[in-house]
Amino acid sequence: MSNVPEYAILKVGGREIKLPVVEGTEGEKAIDIAGLRKETGYVTLDPSFMNTAACFSKITFVDGEQGILRYRGIPIEELVKLGSFVKVAYLLVNGNLPTPEQSRKFSQLLNVNSLLHEDMRHFFDHFPQGAHPMHILSTMINALAAFYPNVDLRSMTEDIDTSTARLISIVRTMAAVAYKKSIGEPIVYPRHDLKYCANFLNMMFDSPVAPYSVRPEAERVLNILFILHADHEQNCSTTAIRTVGSAQVNLYATISAGMSALSGPLHGGANQEVIEMLKMIEADGNVKKYINMAKDKNSPFRLMGFGHRVYKTYDPRAAIIKKECHAFLQAMDIQDSLLEVAWEVEKAALEDEYFITRNLYPNVDFYTGILYRALGIPEDMFTVMFALARLPGWIAHWKEMIGGNTKIVRPRQIYIGKTLDQI
Ligand code: CMC
Repeated sequence: MSNVPEYAILKVGGREIKLPVVEGTEGEKAIDIAGLRKETGYVTLDPSFMNTAACFSKITFVDGEQGILRYRGIPIEELVKLGSFVKVAYLLVNGNLPTPEQSRKFSQLLNVNSLLHEDMRHFFDHFPQGAHPMHILSTMINALAAFYPNVDLRSMTEDIDTSTARLISIVRTMAAVAYKKSIGEPIVYPRHDLKYCANFLNMMFDSPVAPYSVRPEAERVLNILFILHADHEQNCSTTAIRTVGSAQVNLYATISAGMSALSGPLHGGANQEVIEMLKMIEADGNVKKYINMAKDKNSPFRLMGFGHRVYKTYDPRAAIIKKECHAFLQAMDIQDSLLEVAWEVEKAALEDEYFITRNLYPNVDFYTGILYRALGIPEDMFTVMFALARLPGWIAHWKEMIGGNTKIVRPRQIYIGKTLDQI
């Protein structure tokens, strides 16, 4: 028997009203205030959604106090052992791990939809030199709706499995093309004989003059990185997806909105900023100075890759990446002095009263950049890697949202501007 009350009692404006209490399957309790304004004239105020559950969801469970992350009920540690990003993508989007037959069909769909439309290829020629790949990618994804129409909810004639596979497969091709264009090399087309992550590495690093062969260690570690980033419930970009999608915008424009949200330095853009920060600290040789700067309220500097809205303990993804990072560098015989700087920064922060009292621990972005560097991925592609990995999560949330009879997202506000008699 649950000891959760059926109602919460609110006294306001001389009235007492009962608000229903709901409880999730993992014991999260919420007071349902949807009818509050109608009954009392009051709204609730919660800027930045610090304490608001915006939906019901069956996709991902996070317990930020205990450091637990599960997709569709399966612990992240188990999914990492599975070693297949494509299977985890299927799990997120469809709700179950694929049977061998479902795996075969999904891989086939990914292969069939991996090629970029030839006319879209020319778009890449017109971005200015030095354009950030995240900006290029969000533009290109938006353009997909023009090439593959009928993804508007009201007139969707294409089945969701095809749109899903196209996004997961083609965005990977776009990312590699954006990179090749940025370094002035001919693009490499996707190959049906390579698996998802190996295919991406091949498109990134193969060249007519120096054929590339994918190392199994690299393929394995990329699968792990992608699995760890594949979903994280109602984060900023997923909330953007659910908000934009609720207006029944087409799927590609919706995903493009998520990409834009992810590019911010407080969100997915942090992985690139971590490396820039570690380089700065290494050049300066003074870890303490940067710890002090991060604590100084007069300085805008923050320890990038530290802190999280939900995790108040070690981010379980960061724990896995830290271990994999060390193992991969050793296996590949790569020396990266930034890994030692990262260890030093982490140690200094975790011993410091400021970070201890605020529960600030390394998050997923703290060690990922070092792994991406070891894989040969350039820094301005780090957030793109995050975006590729997050696609199944975004699509799963979009699918759940459109299947759930969602109303258009439209928060209220408390107006504090001029009144008529003040003008
Ligand atoms: N360095 C120094 N102080 C920090 C940091 C940090 N990285 N993060 C939080 N704080 C302090 C903050 O100043 C505040 O102190 P006080 O209570 O004295 O005002 C307290 O800790 C609470 O922080 P907050 O900003 O209110 O927390 P939030 O939940 O709004 O922000 C965050 C979460 C992730 C945006 C923030 O921790 C941050 O800016 N971290 C650095 C950027 C980063 O690593 N982002 C990646 C997040 S994980 C992956 C993803 O979401 O994409």
